[in-house]
Amino acid sequence: MSNAKTKHARLLAWVDEMEALCKPDHVHWCDGSQEEYDRLCELMVQGGTFIKLNPEKRPNSFLARSDPKDVARVEDRTFICSASKIDAGPTNNWMDPREMKAKLAKSFDGCMRGRTMYIVPFSMGPLGSPIAHIGVQVTDSPYVAVNMRIMTRMGQRALDVLGESGEFVPCMHSVGRPLADGAKDVPWPCNPEQITIAHFPETREIWSFGSGYGGNALLGKKCFALRIASVMARDEGWLAEHMLIVGVESPDGERTYVGAAFPSACGKTNFAMMVPPKGFEGWKIWTVGDDIAWIKPGKDGKLYAINPEAGFFGVAPGTGANTNPNAIAALTKNCIFTNVALTDDGDVWWEGLSEAPKHCIDWQGRDWTPDVKTPAAHPNSRFTAPVSQCPTADPSWEAPGGVPISAFIFGGRTSKDMPLVFQAFNWSHGVYLAATMGSEATAAAVGQAAVRRDPMAMLPFCGYNMADYWGHWLNMGRRIPNPPRIFRVNWFRKDDDGKFMWPGFGENMRVLKWIVDRVRGRAYAVESPLGWMPRHDDLHWAGLDYDPKKFHELMVVSREAGRHEAVAHEEHFDRFYDRLPKELLYERELLRSRLWRSPETWELSAEH
Ligand code: GTP
Ligand code: SPV
Ligand code: MN
Repeated sequence: MSNAKTKHARLLAWVDEMEALCKPDHVHWCDGSQEEYDRLCELMVQGGTFIKLNPEKRPNSFLARSDPKDVARVEDRTFICSASKIDAGPTNNWMDPREMKAKLAKSFDGCMRGRTMYIVPFSMGPLGSPIAHIGVQVTDSPYVAVNMRIMTRMGQRALDVLGESGEFVPCMHSVGRPLADGAKDVPWPCNPEQITIAHFPETREIWSFGSGYGGNALLGKKCFALRIASVMARDEGWLAEHMLIVGVESPDGERTYVGAAFPSACGKTNFAMMVPPKGFEGWKIWTVGDDIAWIKPGKDGKLYAINPEAGFFGVAPGTGANTNPNAIAALTKNCIFTNVALTDDGDVWWEGLSEAPKHCIDWQGRDWTPDVKTPAAHPNSRFTAPVSQCPTADPSWEAPGGVPISAFIFGGRTSKDMPLVFQAFNWSHGVYLAATMGSEATAAAVGQAAVRRDPMAMLPFCGYNMADYWGHWLNMGRRIPNPPRIFRVNWFRKDDDGKFMWPGFGENMRVLKWIVDRVRGRAYAVESPLGWMPRHDDLHWAGLDYDPKKFHELMVVSREAGRHEAVAHEEHFDRFYDRLPKELLYERELLRSRLWRSPETWELSAEH
């Protein structure tokens, strides 16, 4: 029995085929209504998946606790199944598409027995936007269905945009735990041993098995909006990036938009909702997106960006009234929390939210008191919240045409030898800076080295050969008359005692203002071997006493460390053989020749 409200023949045929394969007990087409959302949440409360939070503290909000074996994206179980291996490139796991399809056919056969199959149509991007695209996720997880309603424009309205013959990306998902003849369900069904997240770039399909968590399961996000969309973007001449989008408004009302790529758990959500610090009275920050940007060239030759998502799936720990009050305000109602702690009064808590409660229940359902050694919330615990609830949501955040981008910022988590900020000499040098970006590892990168190259913060998300992706970036710069300026930043430098040297968070506004002023041609910088650097005097310091000597330490890179890094770039590039764009080799040689010049003629940091 199906309640489909579409005449899209190809979609109906595909759903029939998936039903025959997965053998669910029921099929439900999601209409995206509040009534449906409430019903699914209630169903999950009864089944133990959701705990309803105290409606006085946190109206219409729920807590979910995942299986402890299913708490983050799993990069080593994520595959790009292009027809030829070289098209996936050396940074992606690859499997032959026929072999993968055969494996999936076995895994999915009967995988939804005893469950309901939900059909979740969604739009990535404002409905009907020329930059947006439609996907349809088939899933046996009601948790996924309700999260998709917050994260995307989900339901009948997406089907209406799709019409009878529109293009959609089929996204197949199962938690991989069929219920044989009336077997009792568990609160968080999953199949951790068999997790497989497969992408077929040529046919633009996604198949995900075994996990119910985050980017593994909310397939509109990393799987579609980054891995598949990056391939679409290459073919069609646009960009799909792991970037926040933020608007900076000066006291006289001038607004400048920038896109910033930081790896997972490196501060995108904070930066996207930044509160300007003391000394920036009259300045405003506007949030367009906190994780993903789709960027297309407009008729006027500028680049326009949309946030393909409609919600935040943000890291909870470290989010507090001091660090990110705008996120806190967005979380007051209508939210889903996953793997955070439950307080005795039926609210949520995590490390960094506020002072620790005397007692709470940790993310695994155990009693927790401040003397317990393990954290109450999992380090990768997350909130799902509508963008519309964020006080700084940009008035144009749903503009179908997007917002014009003036600068790209790239920043990893680097505790040593990387300055606070500098500007690329030009577009191709900027692509070089982004392509060689390093960052210290986060939750999803199990078993990886402490520091890894994370080009454009896209290492786990580029759906094709990374070297071709760099070539695509270089081409984009050539196609646009006056491409955005490119910057490198690093909030995470540490001193010899292991303490952060830069206060970060709202204070990052000082760096952002310099970037905006550079773009607008009104800030000074000096040329260094690494790029254009601000001197202490070139940043706006009102409201913060930051010692010029300390600033020098924050900006300086020793000649030895700089050379060491340049040599490491060679090893990094060697992995890509003949696919590496020539420009990047030349950029490296230019960097080397700048670094190896006599010390008298160059200073690595701008101290004057
Ligand atoms: P994904 O959602 O995983 O893509 O990541 P994200 O980049 O949105 O991560 P998020 O903003 O949630 O990063 C959170 C982590 O970054 C927390 O540990 C914060 O404390 C830390 N963080 C954010 N901004 C700053 C900053 O300016 N300085 C320092 N030192 N840490 C920061
Ligand atoms: C990330 O890991 O970059 C995320 C979280 O944004 S997830 O959606 O789980 O991939
Ligand atoms: Mn992300």
